[in-house]
Amino acid sequence: MNVGKIDLKNPLILASGILGSTGSSLNRIAKLGAGAVVTKSIGATPREGHPGPVLIKTDTGFLNAIGLPNPSYKYFIEELNDFNRYCPLIISVFGANRSELVKILKNLEEYADAFELNLSCPNVKGYGMDIGKDPIFVENITREIKKITNKPLWVKLTSNVEDITKIGVAAENGGADAVVAINTVKGLGIDTESGYPLLGNVYGGLSGRMIRPIGLISVYSLYKKLKIPIIGVGGIENYKDAIEYFMAGARAVEIGSGVYNNINIFNEIKSELDLYLNKKGIKLEELIGLAHRRETEECNNQKSEEREQRY
Ligand code: FUM
Repeated sequence: MNVGKIDLKNPLILASGILGSTGSSLNRIAKLGAGAVVTKSIGATPREGHPGPVLIKTDTGFLNAIGLPNPSYKYFIEELNDFNRYCPLIISVFGANRSELVKILKNLEEYADAFELNLSCPNVKGYGMDIGKDPIFVENITREIKKITNKPLWVKLTSNVEDITKIGVAAENGGADAVVAINTVKGLGIDTESGYPLLGNVYGGLSGRMIRPIGLISVYSLYKKLKIPIIGVGGIENYKDAIEYFMAGARAVEIGSGVYNNINIFNEIKSELDLYLNKKGIKLEELIGLAHRRETEECNNQKSEEREQRY
């Protein structure tokens, strides 16, 4: 299936930030049934990331503030050389400006089936969401990046804004081939014995089951405004969660926190989704955006009821 100008093996993709820092962990997930894999976000210079704790398991998911640690594009190439190309590879990249991104993209171009531009990490000043919440910046940087790579470009959006569709439209106007929604939702945890914030960075990003309704409303709203494909992400743990995203308008989904609890999640969701589609006698395509068509039917039914009452 072709989504965002790349041929996925199936619509279930490994999200950035989970087992995406080494060639061998990407190989492992590729072999375990992912339709494509996304790397940890890669920058222009080496970064150690934030002081610990960087990841906390909460009662409903995870709170993280890793701080975009990565060896830089130069050293990440070693890992990319180890990738077995068992499924498409999407390289997640972050940068503060055009010149940082030019260096990264030019050097990683030959390894990528597509790039995912991280304009949504909530944890680092000057990067990610800090710059990605401004629609004008998003449109301009997307346009600039499209000039320097021939590879498809996906833009990963933040929901930590008043209206995610403004950023989605900006990415589309800049020439993005798809948008990915959503990244983690800004959050905080506090240790009740000591009063210290749980994360070394104080605040971080929440992922897992709890954010699924936020991911869904984001995808649903984006679907109403965009022509380019939407890849849904946030809180997917089973096939029904994925189906909700398809019905909201996603053409594919990414799975992150769900992998921690179940390394076989890709193969499991794939088989359960196939069973569901076979039982209903429909194709995946028919699920995409179904909730919108139902909404229209509902509106039409209400209108004809009103008309009947009037006459
Ligand atoms: O802190 C981090 O490295 C998180 C990145 C992200 O959410 O994109």
